[in-house]
Amino acid sequence: MVKRIGILTGGGDCPGLNAVIRAVVYKASEYGWEVLGVRYGWKGMLNADAVPLTKADVEGILPLGGTILKTSRTNPYKVEGGETKVLENAKKMGLDCLVAVGGEDTLGVAYKLTKAGLKCVGVPKTIDNDLGATDYTFGYQTAVQIATDAMDRLHTTAKSHDRVLVCEVMGRHAGWMTTDAGMAANAHWIFIPEEKGSVEECCRMLKERYARGERYGIIAVAEGAEFSDLDVKLASQTTDAFGHVRLGGIAETLAKEIEKRTGFETRHVVLGHIQRGGSPIAYDRILATRLGYKAVEMIKNGQFGMMSSLRGEKIEAVPIEEAVKALKTVPRNYFEVAKTFFG
Ligand code: F6P
Repeated sequence: MVKRIGILTGGGDCPGLNAVIRAVVYKASEYGWEVLGVRYGWKGMLNADAVPLTKADVEGILPLGGTILKTSRTNPYKVEGGETKVLENAKKMGLDCLVAVGGEDTLGVAYKLTKAGLKCVGVPKTIDNDLGATDYTFGYQTAVQIATDAMDRLHTTAKSHDRVLVCEVMGRHAGWMTTDAGMAANAHWIFIPEEKGSVEECCRMLKERYARGERYGIIAVAEGAEFSDLDVKLASQTTDAFGHVRLGGIAETLAKEIEKRTGFETRHVVLGHIQRGGSPIAYDRILATRLGYKAVEMIKNGQFGMMSSLRGEKIEAVPIEEAVKALKTVPRNYFEVAKTFFG
């Protein structure tokens, strides 16, 4: 019988995490279960760092960005004896099971730990929207809105100065955010990791725009974009505990190249962590709430090693294994729609 459950948030923060925490606490209290909030993601399980969470503790957190539980990119499988430590601490903390809220890395750990004996359920989270087995992850639409608002603003300033502005959007190896925000904000060209883009073609488009009197340009570039004719040097070679390289700097390289090839004044903007900060939009608050609610129902039903997922209009339980086996990237036919509006 379940008496006490834990919840942790791992990986990069994202708008809507607090909505999940609140939903889990409310639903668990309906069943009379205690909830322990594990701090700093998997690091908290290695250090047995947790605080009790009651309905009073989660009062008012629904619209708050970030995570009241803090987060880290700690991977217990990269720590000597990490798995054993987590299992021992779960026992010490009296956890009957654990809700892991995170992306492919956090959920991948939850999957391994479930096999090792700690009953976990997952809630999918990432602004990148690159997780399989779910239509969308919460936080994504908020991030797209932020990037769209930013690019809308870039239009007016670029136009006033006859400038090209290159806007760098997050999303690691998936171009979802760049494609959707680029489409929504009428970017004149979009570069993503899934399609090797040509700087030469982009410059030709810009020259045509200027020649017909539209003397400015907005270029959306994903931080991990790939090019057929540009050698990209990463700003940093630092990797995290899950082996992901820290991206950033592509907009600057691209802006210099565009200016060199066209002669038009070209500047760059890096949206960076602005896309992850602040309050979630209503859509993400509701999605996060429904996913958190479902996770508790899944515990009740004994559906461990599974995560709650959005499938069409429904929230369903799907195996975590299915979600983490391959990155969900932008399909060619989706990007084709965006390309129609280039120029
Ligand atoms: O995975 C989410 C994400 O925001 C990516 O879009 C980005 O590349 C990465 O995290 C940044 O990570 P950090 O918070 O370590 O800078």
